[in-house]
Amino acid sequence: MRKPLVAGNWKMNGTSASNQKLLENMLASAADFSGIDVAIFPPAVYLYQVKEALTGSGIKWGTQNVSSYLEGPYTGEISASMLPDFNAQYTLIGHSERRCLYDELDIDQLVLDKLVAEKYQRAAASGLTPIICIGETPQEHDQGKTEEVVLRLLDTLIAHQGAKALSRTVLAYEPVWAIGTGKSASPEWAQNVHQFMRERVAKDDPETAANLRILYGGSVKGNNAASLFSKSDIDGGLVGGASLIADEFIKICQAAAQQI
Ligand code: PGA
Repeated sequence: MRKPLVAGNWKMNGTSASNQKLLENMLASAADFSGIDVAIFPPAVYLYQVKEALTGSGIKWGTQNVSSYLEGPYTGEISASMLPDFNAQYTLIGHSERRCLYDELDIDQLVLDKLVAEKYQRAAASGLTPIICIGETPQEHDQGKTEEVVLRLLDTLIAHQGAKALSRTVLAYEPVWAIGTGKSASPEWAQNVHQFMRERVAKDDPETAANLRILYGGSVKGNNAASLFSKSDIDGGLVGGASLIADEFIKICQAAAQQI
């Protein structure tokens, strides 16, 4: 049985004061999350605050992005090697909001997938668990290219690192049309894509595929989490907007805990 994971991506939101309130509310319900993994992803400037608040609670944390370089003249970037100083255990990689920024520069998607693979290697080398995000844009969705898009990333990752290396990672299927839109993918749609992803990994390494956690992200809320998480290949959620509202996020974590 794969242990569910609920990841809360705060994106570029919060102040020390609002974070503190949110963290205190989460801590008050932390006992409800036993048996599952919960991790939050604050803006990097608040990592120290999160570490101070959550140490010893069982709730984990990580960053929203990581550089593909180790150190050097890369203004504004964060190295994976810095994150153990904050006891961070996870990092998101390839979130669509990062990919979209690069898109503006017209970088080829395959090049972007290679960049994701490089970041993945960097994160894993620092002992972090990368959560690698992939999902189709609204245009790709309308053109029926969902499988092509997820396959391209998985093929790139496997060619770069081998399928076995995925045993130290988490995948997140995040259809871009569902992110921040309030329009979640249906549980059936998400299940089909997750199953397709797992089958692709199984072609190279059935054991890694069987143990691989695949999260769903895109408008996960308190009222749809349970039906999404009830699907056999959906192992939890990557939550954006709802992770900023304590009651909503706690409901989502409780829905994941009910699956075990
Ligand atoms: P959302 O964001 O839950 O606000 O749709 C999900 C994400 O971007 O990971």
